Amino acid sequence: METDNLKFVDFCAGIGAGRLGLQKLGLSCLAFSEIDKYAETTYREFFGQEEKNHGDLMKIDPKNLPDFDLMIAGFPCQTFSVIGQRKGMGDHRGQVIYGLIKIMKGKNLPYFILENVKGLVNHDGGNSLKIILEELDKAGYKVFYKVLSSLDYGVPQMRERIYFVGIRKDLVKENKNFEWPKPVKTPKVEYFLIDDGELEFDERKKSYETFLKFINNKYNKGQFDIKELLKQEYLVLDTRQSDLRLYRGKVPTLRTGRHGVLYVRNGKFRKLSGLESLLLQGFPKELAEKAKGKIADINLLSQAGNAMTVSTIEAVGKRLLEYIKE
Ligand SMILES: C[S@@+](CC[C@H](N)C(=O)[O-])C[C@H]1O[C@@H](n2cnc3c(N)ncnc32)[C@H](O)[C@@H]1O
Repeated sequence: METDNLKFVDFCAGIGAGRLGLQKLGLSCLAFSEIDKYAETTYREFFGQEEKNHGDLMKIDPKNLPDFDLMIAGFPCQTFSVIGQRKGMGDHRGQVIYGLIKIMKGKNLPYFILENVKGLVNHDGGNSLKIILEELDKAGYKVFYKVLSSLDYGVPQMRERIYFVGIRKDLVKENKNFEWPKPVKTPKVEYFLIDDGELEFDERKKSYETFLKFINNKYNKGQFDIKELLKQEYLVLDTRQSDLRLYRGKVPTLRTGRHGVLYVRNGKFRKLSGLESLLLQGFPKELAEKAKGKIADINLLSQAGNAMTVSTIEAVGKRLLEYIKE
């Protein structure tokens, strides 16, 4: 089958990292759905002001969506424990996965790629994952799933996520499994930590005092010599936990609400910037620069923390296209 004209819709769109990964493969995005106004503002910086946001996917009537071949969605990890009690559909109608399944069925959708946090694997003793797989099966899909780390797919960020690839059962090829992409060499972190903005972090900044207190708290005291740390170019420091964590050649998982990542450049501490967090999620520099200065760094850091990794989606999408083509 030809894959050049495949069309997709971007659900739980966030800032469109999934969309970018698929566009890189030549697929066209027909529409998006996102409920967070701030994410939408950034999305529009990247993809334009004209497109329609279909809003809350739980309220979408599939008839109002254009026809499309592929759904991409990094759906939120909600509590599935209610579903665990299995008191019937009424109990879990609020779950985004059910909204997505309703759209899949309403559109007789051929393919999907879904993403979620790795924690879903063991969530509620594995019950949440089991239920999601059962529901997708009942909806008529053969599903392949795997935990992949972005570190293996083109960015120096530790980011383990579960990916689901769904193929409508009548399109499944006999004796053929979907193949996950092979890991590639992690690129150097210095290609990503390149912001030239004023983000040096030293005595001039008030928050530096907090950092010094942190370095001297009961977990860290006596363990770190600031001068020695500053000698190590591109050393990455994560101040999220009570203890300081150091990384070389990679950054820890970007998360929404985690803004305490520092690194050393030219013998000075710098704060990880919004632009850099986008690059670490695989956004191309030209695009990431569109947001710089227009969207507050604190929002960009959160939104990047919520996003998919562009290059991982591109790698997974490429394998799906290969499956479809053969
Ligand atoms: C984990 S984030 C995924 C972000 C996105 N995949 C990206 O690459 O930026 C989940 C997103 O789903 C959105 N969302 C949650 N419930 C939704 C709903 N009912 N309809 C549309 N979007 C929703 C959230 O606002 C959030 O931006």
